[in-house]
Amino acid sequence: MLIRRHNGFDIKASEITPEAIYQDRRRFLQTASQLALGSLFLPLDEVLAAPEKYNYANIPGIKPNPRYQDKDLKKIITSPEDFSSYNNFYEFGMDKDDPKDNSKKFKTKPWTIKVHGLVSKPADYQLEDFLKPYELEDRIYRFRCVEAWSMVVPWVGVPLHRILSRAQPTSAAKYVLFKTLQDPDQFPMQKTKILTWPYQEGLRLDEAMHDLTLLTVGAYGKVLPNQNGAPLRLIVPWKYGYKSIKSIVSIELVSAQPKTAWEMSAPDEYPFYSNVNPEVPHPRWSQKTERVLGSGFFKAKQKTLMYNGYADAVASMYSKFDNKKLY
Ligand code: MTE
Repeated sequence: MLIRRHNGFDIKASEITPEAIYQDRRRFLQTASQLALGSLFLPLDEVLAAPEKYNYANIPGIKPNPRYQDKDLKKIITSPEDFSSYNNFYEFGMDKDDPKDNSKKFKTKPWTIKVHGLVSKPADYQLEDFLKPYELEDRIYRFRCVEAWSMVVPWVGVPLHRILSRAQPTSAAKYVLFKTLQDPDQFPMQKTKILTWPYQEGLRLDEAMHDLTLLTVGAYGKVLPNQNGAPLRLIVPWKYGYKSIKSIVSIELVSAQPKTAWEMSAPDEYPFYSNVNPEVPHPRWSQKTERVLGSGFFKAKQKTLMYNGYADAVASMYSKFDNKKLY
């Protein structure tokens, strides 16, 4: 299966370059455009058929992406070690190293995904079949956590709109509700009441259909590590990180705005839209700056950007709304 280079969003230096750690933008752009011409092949069927064999190892057939080895890009992209060691995945624990320590035995096969609700073609898929018809894309996105840390990650996935179009939403469908697996034997924290389980998240239909919204199966050219949401997670790069739900088993089209896990737990702190907005503080801290995840865990502080740097692509979806309400 072909990994398609996506040139619209994946290497926009103005959006992903942390100023403090990269100054020479012109040279970066040249390097990026040269490297973006390459292509990679990913035998997805094989990987999905035996994920345990390949988990967080190189996906067979994929040559290490030369772009990630480029020294200028290396300065920008978060290291895979940091990406997979400092996580939020409350099903496995509340500390940042709990997900890595407690997810080693997490079983991602077999994995069934249900696409249902207000659609003409509901279906239950085995993961092996779910993404088979599509080309995987390789996209570098900024990722901004509400706790004011950020990273830059090369994700591998399929734009959600392709999956939704296949299901054919009816005219009554206005929102999409996502749910994580419910399995307290594997997710120890689901035996507690720290959140309402299963973890759930929602998007307005136009947000879900936006080309930036990516269902991901990998990162850094490799299968997702368990602690980062294997085998399938959402990435919505212009919203705070908690909207990017992990280990998804249900995608449901609904007519009314759904409640999200964090909204049920603290509605004043984590409202539905949660678009990155440096001008609207979280009730307990400022969102004006962010710490860049890097070795030792943080290497620099930089200004947070409106919509996490994706304003050109997404602001028009919110033109009728009060931005403060949308945080
Ligand atoms: N999805 C599930 N199911 N459970 C979680 O606790 N945490 C969210 C989001 N998705 C979470 C989740 C939060 S708060 C963040 S910041 C991101 O995952 C973290 O993603 P990462 O660990 O890959 O950086």
